[in-house]
Amino acid sequence: MERKRETFGSRFAVVMAMAGSAIGLGNIWRFPYMAGEYGGAAFIIVYIAASLILALPIFFAESIIGRRSGLGTFGAMEKLAPGTGWKWVGLLTVLSPIIILSYYSVVGGWSVEYLFKSFEFARMQENEVTGFFGLFISSTWMPILAHTAFLLLVGGVVLGGVRKGIEQFTKITMPILFVLILVIAIYGLSLPGSGKGVEYLVKPDFSKLTPSTVTAAMGQAFFSLSLGVGTILTYASYMKKDENILVSGLGTAGFDLFFAILAGFAVMPAVFAAGIAPGAGPGIVFETLPYIFNKMGAASPLLCTGISFLFFFTILAAALTSAISMMEVGVAFLTEEKEMHRWSAVLLITGFAWIVGVLCSLSFGPLSGVKILGNSIFDFLDKLCSNWLLPLGGLLFTLFVGWKMSPSDVFDEFTNSGTLKANKAVFKTVMLLIRYVAPAGIIAVFISLLV
Ligand code: PHE
Repeated sequence: MERKRETFGSRFAVVMAMAGSAIGLGNIWRFPYMAGEYGGAAFIIVYIAASLILALPIFFAESIIGRRSGLGTFGAMEKLAPGTGWKWVGLLTVLSPIIILSYYSVVGGWSVEYLFKSFEFARMQENEVTGFFGLFISSTWMPILAHTAFLLLVGGVVLGGVRKGIEQFTKITMPILFVLILVIAIYGLSLPGSGKGVEYLVKPDFSKLTPSTVTAAMGQAFFSLSLGVGTILTYASYMKKDENILVSGLGTAGFDLFFAILAGFAVMPAVFAAGIAPGAGPGIVFETLPYIFNKMGAASPLLCTGISFLFFFTILAAALTSAISMMEVGVAFLTEEKEMHRWSAVLLITGFAWIVGVLCSLSFGPLSGVKILGNSIFDFLDKLCSNWLLPLGGLLFTLFVGWKMSPSDVFDEFTNSGTLKANKAVFKTVMLLIRYVAPAGIIAVFISLLV
């Protein structure tokens, strides 16, 4: 039975929703600490290259599959390659965003907590501020409560549907986010001692380049652009037939890169000004910034509270728009393929992500002794997704578009059935990237991981 499917209302809405998915904790929380851990500018150069050469082709591939089929990942594979094993790829990419959602929501919860904490930073002692993060994440109940609150917010928006929920929310949030991160970056740059942070971000030290830097940079590029897990595919399935796939892909990738670099400039100078090692790990944003805010508090408590609130609000809003896109992949699957009501689909996914998220949250405290292949539950899931599932999904999507779909269908999507003037050279280059360059690059990184 053909059901009428929702679509995004305008090109602006498409780009904002896709950028909303792409821009998130990956940019503000993960990018700065990855850059810090893997050598600053050298990592950033590889990350930019990986975004353009490996990630962007996957973005186009997902857009083509999604819009061509007009279905979520599983249905898309069944429709475009009926009766083949490709549907398992569809299923894999339904499951992986739900796993990401589970641990992502834990960090989203941290930003909820810090939003409230903003009202206290000015009054706290310096050692209280620096010690707070460790105490908080290792405690049992508060992080779980925050994770629950975050997940309920996500579920609430997804329940509203594509137009009224996702589109409305991202259209309002994303422009505000850009202004906020700009303000915060400018503020970060004005801090005394910020020059060292800037230098760290722009002066590459290529001796820091190792295979693990390349793997991490590729994982970061995929994570940041929400690739390999069917989110872009699903959003593209809500795109109207007259949107330009090339333009929306380039637009989203451009916004995402710009935002990550801005976040780097907002965070790294503060890290150096606070005298914290750039490789201090996942807590870096949550440890460093409050320290700076607390210092400001001595001069002006109001400014401290205001900037801190703005900063954590930015993180929370960015995290929400991304988490929404993760949940939507599963919701599209359950409503389209399993004929479930939207609300039961949202409930089911929220429940699953809640349980796994609770385990992730506890892995910083009571369950810190539980190790999977030497990693805590949280780290294991993050590494499993970023280093393996995302690239694997991305690889399979490029192979599907490059080798399984007929080139004329792909060309048809590129040109919106011939209504857009296609530049043959551009098309050829994109196809070259989709067919050869991106798959070869991903396979090379997999091999280096295994060796
Ligand atoms: N791109 C999001 C971020 O940067 C994370 C994400 C990954 C979203 C995978 C959807 C799917 O935070």
